[in-house]
Amino acid sequence: MATRKLFSVLFLQLIMFVVLLLVLNPAYAHESLKVGFYEKSCPEAEAIVKKVMVETLSKAPTLAAPLIRMHFHDCFVRGCDGSVLLRSSTNQAEKDFVSNLNLRGFQIIDRVKSALEKACPGVVSCADILALVARDATATIKGPSWEVETGRKDGRVSSEIEAHENLLPPTANITRLIRSFQERGLSIKDLAVLSGAHTVGTSHCYSFNDRLYNFTGKGDTDPNMDPNYIKRLKKKCKPGDNTTLVEMNPGNFKTFDEDYYTLVAKRRGLFQSDAALLDNAETKSYVKLQAATGGSTFFDDFGVSMVKMGRIGVLTGKAGEIRKQCSKVNK
Ligand code: HEM
Repeated sequence: MATRKLFSVLFLQLIMFVVLLLVLNPAYAHESLKVGFYEKSCPEAEAIVKKVMVETLSKAPTLAAPLIRMHFHDCFVRGCDGSVLLRSSTNQAEKDFVSNLNLRGFQIIDRVKSALEKACPGVVSCADILALVARDATATIKGPSWEVETGRKDGRVSSEIEAHENLLPPTANITRLIRSFQERGLSIKDLAVLSGAHTVGTSHCYSFNDRLYNFTGKGDTDPNMDPNYIKRLKKKCKPGDNTTLVEMNPGNFKTFDEDYYTLVAKRRGLFQSDAALLDNAETKSYVKLQAATGGSTFFDDFGVSMVKMGRIGVLTGKAGEIRKQCSKVNK
């Protein structure tokens, strides 16, 4: 009888221990993201982000594009944890990787963060700021808007090597693009939809110059690009040009619309990764449909895919921290 009692006490203690472990261990403390996470803790949070964004973009509308891109680059490396914002004293953080050297708008994130810290100190994460800013940037330049899920925490690690391993180069083919998206829980459709962000912004000539001058190392051009477009681009970009910027959607690069699909369908996508959307039946039919219907579903699709992208590898609950400054981990 006494042994049975001892066993049940031990068993109860074991259960309590396991429960405690589950509660305390960040790996198990997963709380999911939700729309309106700051409703009680910082009711003005989203309005503050929007105000700063509208003020900023009315003066500098070309910052919208790099701010949309920043959320993508954050999410694809270590998940959406604000790691793209961290500075390293030895230049070995994500932002030091070559594909991130042309990211712009870090000062806007800092501006949003200080406005939020004034209103509710230590409450809103930098990772959430990136997600909200991407939405407001899109909406402010006449693109769609969507409800952003919040509740992310900020990570404490940022590595240039991981950025190198996880960010996609403009030369990526369709197999690589699909694999990279699927590894992160994103579908082939998400790839076709999110690539539509290339309807805004600019690119450096070096991101596509091989297609114009040296496609296979023999001084040739990319046969998958419209020859007339190549001629036009060659006027802007000379071989070895490292500085010139080209509009991704010529003549209309500041407005978020569905033009991207018309361009890709006409073999005028700027990167091989854009042209690659014609190499898979599903992405091709999405491109063709949006091009033929004036982007009938693109705006709605974009919101849905951005929400999905915003869920990649998030830290929630007790994991991570709320940084005081977006460029530094807390002491
Ligand atoms: C699918 C794979 C992708 C590849 C390979 C890729 C690659 C690139 C490259 C090479 C540039 C030009 C950088 C420069 O030379 O300055 C660029 C620009 C841009 N990307 Fe992507 N991208 C991809 C997907 C995305 C996604 C998913 C988004 C957002 C949802 C996005 C948003 C943008 C924007 C807005 C710009 C213009 C930035 C500016 O004006 O500074 N891209 N991308």
